[in-house]
Amino acid sequence: MFAIVLVGGFGTRLRPLTEHVPKQMLPICGVPMIEWVVGHLADHGVEKVGLAMGYRPDAFLEAYPNEHIATTPYQVAVESEPLGTAGAIRFAVEQFQLTETFLVLNGDVLTDLDVRALVEFHRDVQAEATIALQPVDDPSSFGVVTTDNRGRVEAFIEKPEKGSAPSNNINAGTYVLEPSAVEQIPQGRPVSVERETFPELAAKGTLYALPSATYWLDTGTPRQFIQANLDMLNGKRKQLPDLPDAEIDPKSLITQSVIGNGSEVEAGAVIDKSVLLDGCRIGANSEILGSVLSEDVYVGQGARLDGCVIGQGQRIQPGEVLMNESRPEAGSA
Ligand code: GDD
Ligand code: MG
Repeated sequence: MFAIVLVGGFGTRLRPLTEHVPKQMLPICGVPMIEWVVGHLADHGVEKVGLAMGYRPDAFLEAYPNEHIATTPYQVAVESEPLGTAGAIRFAVEQFQLTETFLVLNGDVLTDLDVRALVEFHRDVQAEATIALQPVDDPSSFGVVTTDNRGRVEAFIEKPEKGSAPSNNINAGTYVLEPSAVEQIPQGRPVSVERETFPELAAKGTLYALPSATYWLDTGTPRQFIQANLDMLNGKRKQLPDLPDAEIDPKSLITQSVIGNGSEVEAGAVIDKSVLLDGCRIGANSEILGSVLSEDVYVGQGARLDGCVIGQGQRIQPGEVLMNESRPEAGSA
């Protein structure tokens, strides 16, 4: 089966980490997110993927120049301007000339979903489109779905106001689609699959959904990005990481953190619940708590970062104290 992976978003909530790369190229335990996503699909019988791109297509093409992501062949459809989630699906279907049932994924979701079971359900109920559902505590930042007892979708409400969601089951960002569902997507303007296409298919009665309660995480915010790294580190996933290689002084204390390749951590430094990308230098007796440091960040001796997101190449002066702050990358305004 063919899978379209949507990777065209700007990753706004993850800035400045996404200043130059789409969020799907950010590393989870040292390996770009897209490789975990495609690897999971390959484990479930997907033979080929198509990346629906817009923002920074060069980042993918440079990282995967030989038409494969890990061992899976891939193609690209590059939008000249963002077409929205449904517009991107339509554009990709035309580019890749898909004429059979296919999968669509939000490229920023990490999950152990049983993709084969979703496809089987889709075929059993003869749906035009089927959505994987996930129960969450606070559904307000997601697409909320209600179904009847056979799984037919009654309502699809994207990002309802807090407290007004009719269910805790949310759109998990994996879909099985028939080409006929795509023909209804209007052309020539951006279209959202969540705000237009799914509500229309629900009204028509051809949209179904299947709940599951496996590992699932949307990685779109700094807090979720740290969580994705820690979950992988802590073995909460079926996939297991090969940890990056860093130079760490034995007199430092590193707990619940991922330190990128080629990074150095000096004596007395304390790092907790944080993710450091490659090439960071962490000075003696500094503290880094609940933070994300992009590549090549320097933290001076005795500095303290708590809940921060620091852009590439940034230098934090010795003794500086930052709390819940975001710093742009070095050299930018
Ligand atoms: N090609 C392309 N073009 N991709 C896009 C575009 C576009 O115009 N807009 C967004 N994307 C991609 C993003 O890169 C991401 O992989 C995916 O589509 C979803 O966009 P997000 O911006 O991450 O949406 P969200 O997290 O707020 O909400 C979506 O995901 C939730 C689950 O994680 C919705 O689908 C919700 O309904 C869902 O619950
Ligand atoms: Mg998202």
